[in-house]
Amino acid sequence: MRIAMIGTGYVGLVSGACFADFGHQVTCVDKDVGKIEALRRGEIPIFEPGLDALVASNVKAKRLDFTTDLKAPVAEADAVFIAVGTPSRRGDGHADLTYVYSAAREIAAALSGFTVVVTKSTVPVGTGDEVERLIREANPSAEVVVASNPEFLREGAAIRDFKFPDRIVVGTDDERGRKVLGDVYRPLSLNQAPLMFTARRTAELIKYAANAFLATKITFINEIADLSEKVGADVQQVARGIGLDNRIGAKFLHAGPGFGGSCFPKDTRALVKIAQDHDVQLRIVEAVLGVNDIRKRAMARKVSNAAGGNLRGKTVAVLGLTFKPDTDDMREAPSIPLVTGLLDMGAKVRAHDPVGMEQAKKELPEIEYCADPYECARGADALVIVTEWVQFRALDLARLKAEMAQPVVVDLRNIYRPEDMAAHGFTYESVGRVTT
Ligand code: UDX
Repeated sequence: MRIAMIGTGYVGLVSGACFADFGHQVTCVDKDVGKIEALRRGEIPIFEPGLDALVASNVKAKRLDFTTDLKAPVAEADAVFIAVGTPSRRGDGHADLTYVYSAAREIAAALSGFTVVVTKSTVPVGTGDEVERLIREANPSAEVVVASNPEFLREGAAIRDFKFPDRIVVGTDDERGRKVLGDVYRPLSLNQAPLMFTARRTAELIKYAANAFLATKITFINEIADLSEKVGADVQQVARGIGLDNRIGAKFLHAGPGFGGSCFPKDTRALVKIAQDHDVQLRIVEAVLGVNDIRKRAMARKVSNAAGGNLRGKTVAVLGLTFKPDTDDMREAPSIPLVTGLLDMGAKVRAHDPVGMEQAKKELPEIEYCADPYECARGADALVIVTEWVQFRALDLARLKAEMAQPVVVDLRNIYRPEDMAAHGFTYESVGRVTT
C-alpha cells in the first residue's frame, strides 16, 4: 500500500514510521521545512523511546521518506492520513480545525485515482462530513472516500501501542474504503487486534468518549485518595480491591497530582463543547475538568502543609517536570501549576527532570535547574516527586536525606513505601495513604 501521512507531529510520525515498518510505502509530509530537513538528517523532533531507530531503519529500507510538498505523495497514495494538530482554540475550548481543513483543501487538489482520505487527528464529531464537503467542493470529480481512524497511542509507549493496539476503529460506511483500511491494518491482525468498522461519526465520538472515560477514572480515584487520607485508608489497596472486578479493571487507577498532557485536558474540554453545541450537558465530564483543575492547583498547598505551613524563604526541590515519564512533553503538566504555586508562596524552587528540562525552561524560566536528584535536593526544606521516572524509584535515601536541610518528602506518585521513608527518618506525605 502507498500511504501519505500529512503532519509529522506525534501521531503522524509514529504512525508513519510504524506503517512503513509493516512494509507499506510511506511519505510523511509537513509544511515545516526545518522539521523535514531535520528528519531527513535522521533527527527526531520529539522524544519517544525507539522512534529514532524505527525511523532510521525504514528510511534505510526506502519505505519511509519525508517531504514538504504533498502533491506527489497524495497523487500516488491509496490512503492519505490527516494527522495535523488540533489544539484547543484560544478562549472557548473548541478544537481548532484550521490545520485539518487547510490540509483537506490541499489534498483535494492533488488527488488522483481512488483514494481514501482518513482523519487520524482527534476531531469533533461531524468533522469528517466537513472534510468530505471541502474535498468535493474543491475537486468535484475526485474518487474519494473520507474515513475516520482515531489513534489511541500513549506518549512514551507509542510504538508498542501502535503495534499492539487493544482495537482499531475505522469509521466509514463505504465498502471500498473499508477494504483499503482493512489492507492497511492487515499486518496487525497477526497481533489479534480487533478491527472495528463503524459509521464515521461513531468513530469520531469513540475517541473522545475513550479519553473522557479514562480522565474520569483517574479523577475518580484521585477523589477517593483525598477521602482515604482523611479516613485512614490506603488508596492503592482500594484501587486494587476495586480494579480486580473485571467490570472496573485495574488500569488508570493510580492516584496522583491530576492528569495532564496533550490529550486528556484538551479532548475533555472539546467533548464538553461538542455536547453543548448539541444542547446536551455532559455533567460528569464537566465535573472531571473542574475537579482536575482544582486538584492541580491544590498540590502546592499540600507541599506547604508538609513543610510546616509556610514556604516563605524556604527551598523546595522538585523531581520530575514532564506530564508523565518517558516523554519531554510539558503540555498541561501538573508541575506547572505546582511550581507556580510554590513560587507564589515565596519558595525558592530547584528542579530536575531526566529528559524534559529544555522544554520545562520555556514554561518555568524562573527556577533553578539541577543536573541530578541529589544536587536538586541540596539544601532543600522539602522535596516533591511530581513525575514517576524510573530514575527516581530507587534513590539512595540516606544520601538524599544528607543533602537536604529538612527531611520532608512529598511523593505525588506513591513510588515509595511510607514505612521505608519513616525508617530513613523522613517526614513523608504521599497521595491517599497514611502520613508518616
Ligand atoms: C492519552 C491516552 O491514554 C491515549 O489513549 C490517547 O491517545 C492520548 O491521551 P497520554 O496523554 O500519552 O495518552 O498519557 P497517559 O499515559 O494516558 O496519561 C495521561 C495523564 O494521566 C498523565 O498526566 C498521567 O500522569 C495521568 N494518569 C494516568 C494518572 O494520574 N493516573 C493513572 O492511573 C493514569
